[in-house]
Amino acid sequence: MLIQDILRRKRDAEALDADAIHTFMRGVADGSVGDAQIGAFAMAVVLNGMNREEAIALTEATRESGQVLRWHDLNLDGPVLDKHSTGGVGDLVSLVLGPWIAACGGHVPMISGRGLGHTGGTLDKLEAIPGYDVTPDDARFRRLVKDVGVAIIGQTGTLAPADKRLYGVRDVTATVESLPLIVASILGKKLACGLDTLVMDVKVGNGAFMPTAEASRELAEAIVTIGSGAGTPTSVLLTDMNQPLADCAGNALEVHEALRLLRGEGRDSRLYQVTHALATEMLVQAGLATNADDAAMRLEKALASGEALERFSRMVHGLGGPSDLAERPAHYLAPAPFTTDVGAPRAGTIHAIDTRALGLGVVELGGGRRNAGDAIDHRVGLSHIAQLGERVDAGQPLLRLHAASQADAEAIASQLSTAFTLGETSSVEPTSPIHATLRQEDLS
Ligand code: URA
Repeated sequence: MLIQDILRRKRDAEALDADAIHTFMRGVADGSVGDAQIGAFAMAVVLNGMNREEAIALTEATRESGQVLRWHDLNLDGPVLDKHSTGGVGDLVSLVLGPWIAACGGHVPMISGRGLGHTGGTLDKLEAIPGYDVTPDDARFRRLVKDVGVAIIGQTGTLAPADKRLYGVRDVTATVESLPLIVASILGKKLACGLDTLVMDVKVGNGAFMPTAEASRELAEAIVTIGSGAGTPTSVLLTDMNQPLADCAGNALEVHEALRLLRGEGRDSRLYQVTHALATEMLVQAGLATNADDAAMRLEKALASGEALERFSRMVHGLGGPSDLAERPAHYLAPAPFTTDVGAPRAGTIHAIDTRALGLGVVELGGGRRNAGDAIDHRVGLSHIAQLGERVDAGQPLLRLHAASQADAEAIASQLSTAFTLGETSSVEPTSPIHATLRQEDLS
């Protein structure tokens, strides 16, 4: 089958059969398809779309373009499951959720990413822990998934290699914004991990990857349909990103917060609510709990007994970090040299927060990358971030800045205070951070 013929068919808005899509993606993976052809394909898909069958075939072809992890030879005593998020600010859910699910009998081979744009990355957070190795060899990764029940590591070159090339070309050809390309990219990588079930956290709001609530909803529906169509039962929680999820953002600060949750503290937080809701969905979907009440009981036991924290500690130690991080976090997670509070310019109620601006603030402080390959300062970030609906007096802190120097903090303080819109209304109705849950049965 000629690649240019596949391109012609997609250019003319024909639906491609699975064979054509697999042929094309094999060529992307082995290098026989050139960058120009990848760009033409991506543009044709952006302009002409793909139907459900094409999108499923593209996802399966992405998954099969490299190694697909298999777990049955390990005789695991529970299902292999995972969660993935479209990314946000103060979104440290994975650090808590993985060990928590492991403590409830699941096995979580979590392949995570680095920060992208204004959003933080799980790997960057874990690398705030001295010694933590995000690229262990295969044997160590598998041993941890079996024995501890969770290992959070970085993308390997062998999983879904076609996506790496395709994404690189999309990035420079204005073809990122296409639902079938986005879904195949996200799911192709995740499903290559050999999961029995998957729960996705699709963010909605001004700090989300998708630009509007409608676009987030469309992405969520496509993920459920295509993930399940590709053979992995997939559900989605749509969750709020109109403010940072935790009241902090920054790598070491978020590890501290994860430990706090794993110790059973912070149960009134939005972070806890979202993590708990995702965990409940995972346990029920994978058959580790019979229903939401049963899941809640199991999750409570795992937290109250210290088992979830224990799994986190064992994962950290198993990947080269200290064995006593949970007991002595301050010893290992270096604080930023300079902290200062950013006060409200006047009294008012917080009506809106520009979440993206806060995320970019962390990047500017050095907690994220401007260019791929930049070094990260794990110490910096924001904490004590005020929430939507909170009433503040003039001068009262909107957040605390953790910076490498006073000059860095001063350079960005006023920009961060304008991320908060203060209004006169005395109260704003608190909204649930969980907007909706979508499952296959809701869509068919
Ligand atoms: N994240 C991905 O992994 N791929 C996309 O296409 C978009 C977001």
